Amino acid sequence: MAINWTEAQIEQIVASVMKGLKADAPISKCEYNGEGYNGKKYIGVYSDMNDAIDAAEQGYKAIRAMSLEEREKVISIIRDLCRKEAHIMAELGVSETKMGRVDHKTAKHMLVADKTPGTSDIQAQVKTGDYGLTLTEMAPFGVVGSITPSTNPSETVICNSIGMIAAGNGVVFNPHPNAIATSNYAVDLINRASAMAGGPRVLVSSVIKPTLDTANIMYKDPRIKLLVCTGGPGVVKSVLSSGKKAIGAGAGNPPVIVDDTADIKKAGKDIIDGCTFDNNLPCIAEKEVFAFNNIADELIDAMKANGAYLITREQADKLASIVLVEKTNPKTGIKSKIVNRDCVGRDARVLLEKIGINVCDKIRCIICETDFNHDFVQHELMMPILPIVRVKNIDEAIDLAVKAEHGNRHTAHMHSKNIDNLTRFARAVETTIFVKNAPSYAGIGFGGEGHTTFTIAGPTGEGITSAKSFTRLRRCVLSESFRII
Ligand code: COA
Repeated sequence: MAINWTEAQIEQIVASVMKGLKADAPISKCEYNGEGYNGKKYIGVYSDMNDAIDAAEQGYKAIRAMSLEEREKVISIIRDLCRKEAHIMAELGVSETKMGRVDHKTAKHMLVADKTPGTSDIQAQVKTGDYGLTLTEMAPFGVVGSITPSTNPSETVICNSIGMIAAGNGVVFNPHPNAIATSNYAVDLINRASAMAGGPRVLVSSVIKPTLDTANIMYKDPRIKLLVCTGGPGVVKSVLSSGKKAIGAGAGNPPVIVDDTADIKKAGKDIIDGCTFDNNLPCIAEKEVFAFNNIADELIDAMKANGAYLITREQADKLASIVLVEKTNPKTGIKSKIVNRDCVGRDARVLLEKIGINVCDKIRCIICETDFNHDFVQHELMMPILPIVRVKNIDEAIDLAVKAEHGNRHTAHMHSKNIDNLTRFARAVETTIFVKNAPSYAGIGFGGEGHTTFTIAGPTGEGITSAKSFTRLRRCVLSESFRII
């Protein structure tokens, strides 16, 4: 698990992946026929959620019967297949959801294959004393019901599967309705790995047409002991109010502070690299910048030197009226703005075309100077659009950045060499992830220390989830014996 990628290595991975892509026939469009795609029938995907739960329960029984070594064998083949088929899933994901970038999605699959913890994450604890020995073990919950998103679809299915299988659970997935082909491709991949390792043909399962109704069947079925939800605010809320033990990974709106002690050139590059990763789909990605006034011009120049295109306030307002749309709540009649689904995860070039600006492919991010109340600051867009708000000092920066994060306690970033400023912001913002002097993706192990996940459970507190998050603790006490000292 100790993989410390340097920037040069990351670029090398992306370059080799792109080379591989050219060699393979492109998937020009997603031909999902419900049961499979491009003529291939998926294994473990059912038309009825009840059948999918039956299958996941059988999978759970099979996992329970496996030794840790056998589980690890399945996981190791999942990792191999994930690496080999990363570009297929990346192309399928972009083709189906119309969001993100193939090269970055491929790199995200590599990250999942390399840095999702397996069975080594499951550690027993022992306490001995005058009264004997007490053993605490991390046990599986049983069958887990997992709700997965459209933003990182196959990445989440594979990452969840590795962690849940390592912990000894069975899994049934209810993928996002806009990413069914990609998510179920990943379900099929897990089942192929199981069969190759000598395990059952169906280890994890899913449904052909997931909806909120199929999700509700999953919530209510007594065989589902744990719900894990990675998604938008609506679906996370529905899981957390299901009455079952649930792990929720939801929205963020990560702010970035840049003070006048930072390496400004590096900060400009890091912020653009993080903000544009998979066109801003990862929920950890930089969403708005608070820059000290005395370095803001230099920071903007550094961003422009790294593929950012600066638009005027008028152009920003015009773009905001396109990328956000008004929605009326049918129950309350209250109007609010939501992101325009057709703009989420799109290339900067495509978004600029919408306001009549034509640029080359080298432009990967749209930047603009705004005030704090601008829609770009207040709404999590998940697009390569980055508003920059000038601030006088660290007090104002922290005050506004905390407000912009809206109490999600998800992720925040800072570029600074001032330890006091870094510490003050980290304490004030209380986020699950706090990245200092690096692109946001360092926070999920891409060029940073630590394991990876696409299920960042802020609301329920598990944080950067891994196998141990999907376990329940069990205690076994042996009285007055087995202490050997
Ligand atoms: N299964 C079934 N239904 C699902 C679902 C799933 N896995 N995921 C979402 N839905 C439902 C939602 O509840 C919603 O239903 P409603 O219209 O009745 O309220 C509907 O599908 C559309 O959901 P949503 O994803 O919110 O809308 P969208 O497709 O227009 O939005 C995004 C797209 C990208 C903006 C949105 O999905 C989002 O915010 N994603 C963030 C995901 C994420 O990665 N979060 C966790 C980070 S740790």
